Amino acid sequence: MKIAVYAGTFDPITLGHLDILARASHLFDKLILAIAEDNYKDTFFTPDERVDIAKKAVAELPNVEVKLFKGLLVEFCRAEGAVAIIRGLRALSDFDNEFQMALMNKKVAPEIDSLFLMTAPEYQFVSSSIVKNFTLLGYAPDSIVSPCVAAALQEKLAARAQEIK
Ligand code: COA
Repeated sequence: MKIAVYAGTFDPITLGHLDILARASHLFDKLILAIAEDNYKDTFFTPDERVDIAKKAVAELPNVEVKLFKGLLVEFCRAEGAVAIIRGLRALSDFDNEFQMALMNKKVAPEIDSLFLMTAPEYQFVSSSIVKNFTLLGYAPDSIVSPCVAAALQEKLAARAQEIK
């Protein structure tokens, strides 16, 4: 069974991520959406919330599993028996960082390859930060996230407003 891992912070998962995920899911028997528990990023959603949201968003992809991981990505891949790390490339600006990460991961785990899929043109500009920024400014970015993600964003926003009161 060929297994691959699509890793990221997914804070939250967007339609851009889902496009990569769906396409990669056709290339492997099993695809693990690996959510980095802590990634030096100040996240909007907690790790468990990110997992819950992602599980709902990928519900229609039968060979996709959602898991939380800590520590080195390649160690997680080894533990899961994965042969590849999937990454999405949006623009040239993604390339430098991706190239560095892929080379370092290859150095540490030569048996695992990084595979890059080009993001669909309609999602070139999409990022989790854009989704959060628009949400925080009162504009629901419903056209670039799944309905379950849009609902989770509004819920979180309401909970935060309640905390501030
Ligand atoms: N569609 C939409 N957005 C996309 C995208 C796509 N196809 N591809 C990337 N993005 C966005 C993400 O939403 C994210 O946006 P944000 O910065 O606004 O949050 C941004 O691009 C970067 O995302 P990603 O490339 O997935 O990086 P990440 O920071 O979320 O996750 C890890 C990177 C978790 C894979 C990496 O840090 C890691 O492997 N960590 C584990 C520790 C480790 O092994 N480190 C050594 C690596 S050399």
